[in-house]
Amino acid sequence: MALLVLLLMGLMLTGGAYALFTTSSTAKAEEYSASDIDGGKKLFVSNCATCHGAGAQGTPNGPSLIGVGASAVDFQVGTGRMPLQASGPQAPVKKAQFSDDQIKQLSAYVASLGPGPSIPDSEYLDASKGDAAAGGGLFRTNCAMCHNVVGAGGALTRGKYAPNLQQVSEKHLYEAMQTGPQNMPIFNDANLTPEQKRDVISYVRTVSETPSPGGFKLGALGPVAEGLFVWFFGLAAVIGITVWLTARSK
Ligand code: HEC
Ligand code: HEC
Repeated sequence: MALLVLLLMGLMLTGGAYALFTTSSTAKAEEYSASDIDGGKKLFVSNCATCHGAGAQGTPNGPSLIGVGASAVDFQVGTGRMPLQASGPQAPVKKAQFSDDQIKQLSAYVASLGPGPSIPDSEYLDASKGDAAAGGGLFRTNCAMCHNVVGAGGALTRGKYAPNLQQVSEKHLYEAMQTGPQNMPIFNDANLTPEQKRDVISYVRTVSETPSPGGFKLGALGPVAEGLFVWFFGLAAVIGITVWLTARSK
């Protein structure tokens, strides 16, 4: 009996300690009023419920939103991905269809359904406080295989693509890492702490704003684009000169 009690106590202690140390989001939650939640519910029923279900429980046309948190809604609706207009391999970025206030209400409603990542605190969105060099290292190990080393974007399988990050706002950068839209993995605070996310944001801002001293960047697409350029124009020039030289020697 004593052994059983000891075992139970041990289990409860580890469980408790685990819950204590892995609280999902350190970036502070925004406070929502009951009227925000109410307004959000109305917007949700008329604009989102056809796909996500009347209680956001999910339907065959859209996933459940219980527990995705305010951050996912702010990202998806703020970048115009949601409401989705047509099914396709990936929800395209469009002009946001709702005002900031309405997005806040929708986020409040979804956040009220279950705990999930909240909207990031502005402290972690200030690129000037981040370390761009450290962020560059993190970006190359975690993001570059899909988004290219300078965030220029790239194609994935089945018509999906990792978008170009250079015009994306600091808030949406953070929220994308936090919520992992579609094929992108989730980078929770255990993978990348809020400070590290800020470093990544700082890196993306720095490379997007750095002018190209060598001239035309060729879209910063990397060695393939640059190699092709040299292949076509460099080789054409070499052939041209050779032809010209042999023509002269006759
Ligand atoms: C035409 C159907 C459709 C409509 C309308 C729609 N959605 Fe979606 N939604 C989807 C599908 C499909 C996905 C999953 C695929 C994706 O993320 O591209 C999704 C994904 C999401 C996600 C991401 C969930 C996650 O796990 O991170 C959020 C948040 C979301 N929708 C919110 C909304 C909100 C808020 C509205 C209303 C303003 C809305 N959606 C309207 C179909 C829809
Ligand atoms: C496995 C590939 C993959 C990795 C790794 C990845 N992403 Fe993504 N990312 C995607 C895809 C795919 C999308 C588009 C999702 C969608 O539109 O629903 C995306 C979207 C985004 C967006 C939204 C862009 C926009 O136009 O709104 C941001 C910001 C972003 N990623 C940042 C990052 C950062 C920062 C990292 C590293 C910490 C990262 N991603 C790692 C695949 C990836």
